[in-house]
Amino acid sequence: MKILLLNGSPNKTGQTMTLAAMLTEKLDGEIKTVHTYDADVAACFDCKYCFENPGCAVKDEMQDIYKLIDWAELFLIASPVHFGIISAKLMTLASRVQTFWAAANVRKDMEKPAKIKGGVNIFTAGAKWNNMFLPCEGVSSLLFHSLGAEQIGSLYAAGTDALPVEQSSEAKRKAELTADRIKLFFNL
Ligand SMILES: Cc1cc2nc3c(=O)[nH]c(=O)nc-3n(C[C@H](O)[C@H](O)[C@H](O)COP(=O)(O)O)c2cc1C
Repeated sequence: MKILLLNGSPNKTGQTMTLAAMLTEKLDGEIKTVHTYDADVAACFDCKYCFENPGCAVKDEMQDIYKLIDWAELFLIASPVHFGIISAKLMTLASRVQTFWAAANVRKDMEKPAKIKGGVNIFTAGAKWNNMFLPCEGVSSLLFHSLGAEQIGSLYAAGTDALPVEQSSEAKRKAELTADRIKLFFNL
């Protein structure tokens, strides 16, 4: 399986990447990771180039990420909750998925804009309250939909301020369940 992990955390060995590792260590395949805070990617500024042309007029590092999106079968979107939603840098990258949305909804020249078959959310939050990951889910579901990918599941760890992910048996169990779900989805 070809797996693209989009890390929206500024901390490469923090809570979010620890949770992501709990999942990916249960999966076979090639994993390519994009650390969004290292990527020189600008937000979409609505030039509408993609309303008439495939691709994106902005020639920055997103061009390499588009190639990875085209390569991957499974998309893992990982982010800490920052002020109630996915991190700002991940949101910046997400805005550049607009070109896939335009392919399907404006140009209507591609039946399926990307090869990616399925996506999984990996979200962490310092605190714990009801439905706290819903705003993050809203963004990611639009992202998966724009890529023509099915959302396979979500792996959450809340309350990381009190209990770090690596000490959480619940996080480990949920990571195993999510891995099983992915394998079922891909008939593995
Ligand atoms: C700028 C910023 C905003 C945050 N906002 C929230 C928040 O709204 N709700 C919450 O529960 N935790 C919030 N946190 C805590 C992080 O979500 C939490 O520590 C997360 O597990 C860190 O993951 P990381 O180690 O991968 O960066 C925030 C942290 C930062 C740095």
